[in-house]
Order: sequence, then structure tokens, then C-alpha cells
Amino acid sequence: MTAGTPSVPAPPAPSHAASQRLFEEASRYIPGGSSRVHYFYEPFPIYAHHGAGCRLTDVDGVERLDFVNNMTSLIHGHAHPRILAAIADQMQRGTAWSEPGEEELRLAKHLVERVPSIERIRFGNSGTENVMMAVKLARAFTGRHKIAKFEGFYHGYYDYIQVSVKSLPANWGPEAEPASTPNSGGLSPTVLDEVVTIPFNKPELLEALLARHGRDLAAFLVDPLASQAGSPVPAPGFLDRLTELTRHHGIVLIYDEVVSFRLGYAGGQERYGGTPDLTALGKIIGGGLPVGAVGGRADIMALCDPTKGPPKVLSGGTFSANPLTMAAGLAAMETYTRAEVERLNALGARLRDGMNALFAARGLSMCAGGDGSLVRILLMDEPVRDYRHFATASGPAKRLAAIHAALLDEGVIVTRMGTACLSTPMGDGEVDAFVRALDRALDRALDRLPS
Ligand SMILES: Cc1ncc(COP(=O)(O)O)c(C=O)c1O
Repeated sequence: MTAGTPSVPAPPAPSHAASQRLFEEASRYIPGGSSRVHYFYEPFPIYAHHGAGCRLTDVDGVERLDFVNNMTSLIHGHAHPRILAAIADQMQRGTAWSEPGEEELRLAKHLVERVPSIERIRFGNSGTENVMMAVKLARAFTGRHKIAKFEGFYHGYYDYIQVSVKSLPANWGPEAEPASTPNSGGLSPTVLDEVVTIPFNKPELLEALLARHGRDLAAFLVDPLASQAGSPVPAPGFLDRLTELTRHHGIVLIYDEVVSFRLGYAGGQERYGGTPDLTALGKIIGGGLPVGAVGGRADIMALCDPTKGPPKVLSGGTFSANPLTMAAGLAAMETYTRAEVERLNALGARLRDGMNALFAARGLSMCAGGDGSLVRILLMDEPVRDYRHFATASGPAKRLAAIHAALLDEGVIVTRMGTACLSTPMGDGEVDAFVRALDRALDRALDRLPS
């Protein structure tokens, strides 16, 4: 990779003194200083103080454009007035109760009417919890217990899906039969025997592996735009083929749309095709409050119905479908209209075009990846096809870390993986500001970029 020479010296980086103080104090009580593994970066993360619209101000008083949006969940950015009003109204009446409330019904109705494959839905508190629920429903429905997932795909931190997320060439085995590798300590070794790993975007390998394992599989999980795998866009027809093959083998097809739901009015399933039996949701449907949901075919969802005797699958926790989340979620989803979905996706395309023009002008072997309103900086010169392509063609993670740090200094927040997402308060101005900041960040990062 080569990079241009800075024309003017970069201004001094903003102070991080208050963040550093909080991090050092927090590290005395919380291992690693924070409960969230995904948001740690060297030497310490900036600490947030307040957000408004698409801007976040840290505890040192530095305001930045927020292209992380609580890991893609704040579709309307921070403190959206309609969501705040819904929360304030609900808060006056109560934050949680064990009785059902009308708010749950309203959000359920909205989502069932919005997504053709969702006939019934139930709510929980996180994406992980609801991917887990979907897997349990699939097992109970089919009477089988193994599951299949795509290599490199992240679906949260339930044991059975913490498999083959970060496999390496040394342990990933042949592509025709990828090895199942653990993504965390603490998994029972039996978990690996329960999970079949499949390469993404390769219909012939999919067909062959399902011919071998299909009769044992309860569920097949797919994220239509899997971030950890480099955000490979599904090849045309691939998800339709997956739908046909899972139907043929009697496997419950689960779409994990915890992140991808924002990409279409009815989620990634509308944008890329295929028809899931179950869909796991999270993030944007909670309007910024903790949430998860599983929805899909009425006959499968009926397994958790307690009205006709003890349900076959237990679901529901103390804060499931709490009225605060339901009220915020309904306001967020009603505000995320089809027109807004399309506007945000077009804005994502504008951002990718701007980034690609910049990389080309600088002669860098980098490109903009992702799709719709999900964008990422890739240290490779073509978009990702599948996880192995991403893992082998990407430049070193340290380069991304240097660009991430330089972008923070230039007033833009992306994740340390170089992923970014848009929120509805953004327009052309914010997207163009991102590209200008990236230009300056590449200058600033020059001396930090390891060769
Ligand atoms: C695709 C996908 N599925 C599931 C999850 C888990 O959701 P949560 O963090 O709410 O448990 C995530 C989290 O980022 C995700 O990206």
C-alpha cells in the first residue's frame, strides 16, 4: 500500500485526558474497563458524555460525527425527539410490569404487517437471546439438534453459534468441509460436534454439505450481510437457493437480521431474497433501548404459546417486551419509513463512491465495502466474496487500527473494524464530511501505518 504525502501538517489531536482517567478508574472494577468486548481499542476507548442527532460528544468535550450508532442500533441517531417523547410518555406510566401492555401488541402488529415472512413474533432483550430462541424453536420443531452456520459469521454469544467465527488458515480445514472452531473459551467441546460450518456464496459446496448433513440439521442460520465476515453481499439467487435446499432437507431457515434489518423496509430478506422460516431481530427495533425478537411461521412460533397447555419451548424473561422498549421501538420503526430506508441506502452508496474515489486518487489498494446504509473500510482492492477471501486478502489489522485512531482525531467515529453505519439525521453534508475526514485521517495515519 502507498499513501500520499500530507500537504499541511495535521492539527494536534484532541485531548483524551478525561477518557483516560475514567478508563484507568474503571479498570480497577471492570476487567478491561468496560463490559463490552467489541468496543475496546488501544490504548483506551473514548468515553461518551452525550449525543444529539448524528453527533456524539465525549467526556473531554470533543464532538464527533457518530458513524457507529451503538453498533448500528440507533437508526435515528441520538435523542430523536419522537422517540424521546414516546419514552417520556411511557415513563410517566411505568417502566416495567409483569402484565402485558398495549405497547407490545402495537410493535408486534407493526412488525408482522411490515415483514411478510413474520406471522407471529415474541420479544426479548438482546439479539443473542433471540438467536438462541430461534435455534431452540427449530430444534423443538424438527426433533433434530445440530445446526449449520456460515464460516466467519457472528450471531452473538450463545454457545452453539460461537463457532467458526474467527477461524484461521491453520485451523479452518478444507473449504469443501470446513472445521468447526471455537470462538470463545468456556464452550463445552460437544458444541463443536453440533455445528456444521459452511462456506458462504458457494452454491455447489452448500448443496454437497447439505446432502451430507441435511437430515441431521434442525436449523440453518444466515446473516444477509455478515459484518465479521467482511460484509459479503449475497450472490444473486444464493439466498433463494438456500431457501430451496433447507426446505428440501426439512431444516428451519433462520435469518439473523439483528443488523441487516435496516437494509430494507422488510429487512435484508426483502433486499437479497430468500424466505426464512424464522427471523431474529434486535438493535433498531428497540429505538435505542435493549431489545431482541424472534418472529416467523405461525406453526413454529406456536411452540411457545402457553394458552393450550404447557408450551413446548419456554421463552420470556423479566424484562422481555418491557413497555419502555416497546414504546421506543414503535416510534423508531414507524419513523423508519420505506422512503427513509431508501434514502439511507442511497446515502450509503454516495459514501462508498466518495471513499473509492479517494482510495483511487491516492493509489491505495483499499476499497469501500458493505451495502446500503452499512459501509466499511476494506484493506483490499475488491469487495469481499466470503470469509476466507476477507481473511486472506485483507491488509494487517494494525493498519485499520491506525486509520481508526486517525479518524477519531479527525472527528469521525467508526468501529475498530472500520465499519460504519448511517443514521437518519445524516444527509449529503455528513457523508461528504466523512470522506474529507478520511482524506485527512490517511495523511495523519501515514506515520502510524505499519508497513
Ligand atoms: C448479526 C448479529 N447477530 C446477533 C448479534 C447479537 O446481538 P446482541 O449484541 O444484541 O446480543 C449481533 C451483535 O452485534 C450481530 O451483529
